[in-house]
Amino acid sequence: MPAIVIVGAQWGDEGKGKATDLLGSRVDYVVKFNGGNNAGHTVVIGEEKYALHLLPSGILTPGCVPVIGNGVVVDLDVLFSEIDGLEARGIDTSALLVSANAHVIADYNRTVDKVTERFLGSRKIGTTGRGIGPTYADKMNRLGIRIQDIFDEKILREKVDGALELKNQILAKVYNRRAVRADEIVEQLLAHADRLRPMVADTALVLHEALSRGENVLLEAGQATLLDVDHGTYPFVTSSSATTGGACTGSGIAPTQISRVIGIVKAYATRVGEGPFPTELFDADGERLRTNGGEFGTTTGRPRRCGWYDAPIARYAARINGVTDFVLTKLDVLTGWEQIPVCVAYEVDGERVDEMPMTQTGFHHAKPVYEFFPGWSEDISAARELADLPANAQAYVRELESMSGARISAVGVGPGREETVVLHDLI
Ligand code: GDP
Ligand code: IMO
Ligand code: MG
Repeated sequence: MPAIVIVGAQWGDEGKGKATDLLGSRVDYVVKFNGGNNAGHTVVIGEEKYALHLLPSGILTPGCVPVIGNGVVVDLDVLFSEIDGLEARGIDTSALLVSANAHVIADYNRTVDKVTERFLGSRKIGTTGRGIGPTYADKMNRLGIRIQDIFDEKILREKVDGALELKNQILAKVYNRRAVRADEIVEQLLAHADRLRPMVADTALVLHEALSRGENVLLEAGQATLLDVDHGTYPFVTSSSATTGGACTGSGIAPTQISRVIGIVKAYATRVGEGPFPTELFDADGERLRTNGGEFGTTTGRPRRCGWYDAPIARYAARINGVTDFVLTKLDVLTGWEQIPVCVAYEVDGERVDEMPMTQTGFHHAKPVYEFFPGWSEDISAARELADLPANAQAYVRELESMSGARISAVGVGPGREETVVLHDLI
């Protein structure tokens, strides 16, 4: 049996957590392959609501093995507090595996994240302040600390010393902060060693063996296509590969083993933090989307910027990721609008452009060209088949499908696991 990838098709918070949870009972492994506790996934099961950051959403499914892949950056304090929080609510987390090659977010990475943002002033990214960017920078600079390093105190000390050599100069001389003591960092990391040891595995090997036994592996992205460090709206992106390519590098699974790519896309659009967002609304409609959709960050609580559906972005995500199926989420949030605008192209410096502009400047200048579709007023949360939706809602789904570059296989009509219209089986 092959591997399946779930990716965000916009700027994050599309409902990846719900989609992963929905498929969880039919897969054997759920792998987080990028990002860290910058992610925030809310999963609603019956009356219970779970907010996950670092742990893969598959952790909520009994019998499914959750895996933190090599492409993830791990804050160990967050890892254990999330595990403790779930255990206290009766969720068994004992099957969790953590890649020996995943990198660790050290305390100094959080400090550097915050001071860099402050230093950037009006050019800031609006990061989550979790140390994500600096930890990936250390990884690329070959100065990172990996999970495996924690089990050899001598090596750990050498690596922390190495990482701090330049960083302390910068912290003290550029940012006017106190230098970090290597001992403190080593002590903080070693404190987790005993509890961490039994979870650590060669996860790429484990996943290969699972695939050769014919088991199902689901690879779950954090963040999204437009936040991907290569394919997103750089520099207003996160520092990891949140697209299908990242699913391979971040897990050790080969591209030839991926049979399906599920793109999660909201029936409108949101963004957290800075950066261009052509369909962003600054009026009562934006406020209404935010209120009706509960668009406040799961991680930082920041109000999300809201706007209309952007079809060129969905097409871009379909191309970059090789999306085979879209899950269109939060259609219920659009209930009650008389007509719904959809961005079908842009106007860039007086010219119509049908696809994502090539340059950052082009995208900053892009003004949406809207088409308007008739709305519906009926409550749609009980719909389970396309035919259960009002005619205008069905037409809206079909119109988006025709513009977005892949078929729509499921539609979300509420936050609950069962509040989903299924058009085609996803597994
Ligand atoms: P993720 O980061 O992609 O996993 O998404 P988040 O969990 O950050 O944000 C999505 C929010 O929308 C969560 O609060 C979900 O419970 C909720 N949600 C997901 N699908 C639907 C849907 O179809 N309808 C509604 N109303 N809420 C949804
Ligand atoms: P999920 O997985 C939405 C945004 C931040 C900021 C930028 C860089 O829940 O979809 P970082 O801390 O990663 O260096 O911040 O990326 N960002 C997200 N926005 N959803 C997320 O994750 C995000 N993770 C990071 O707001 O603009
Ligand atoms: Mg989220």
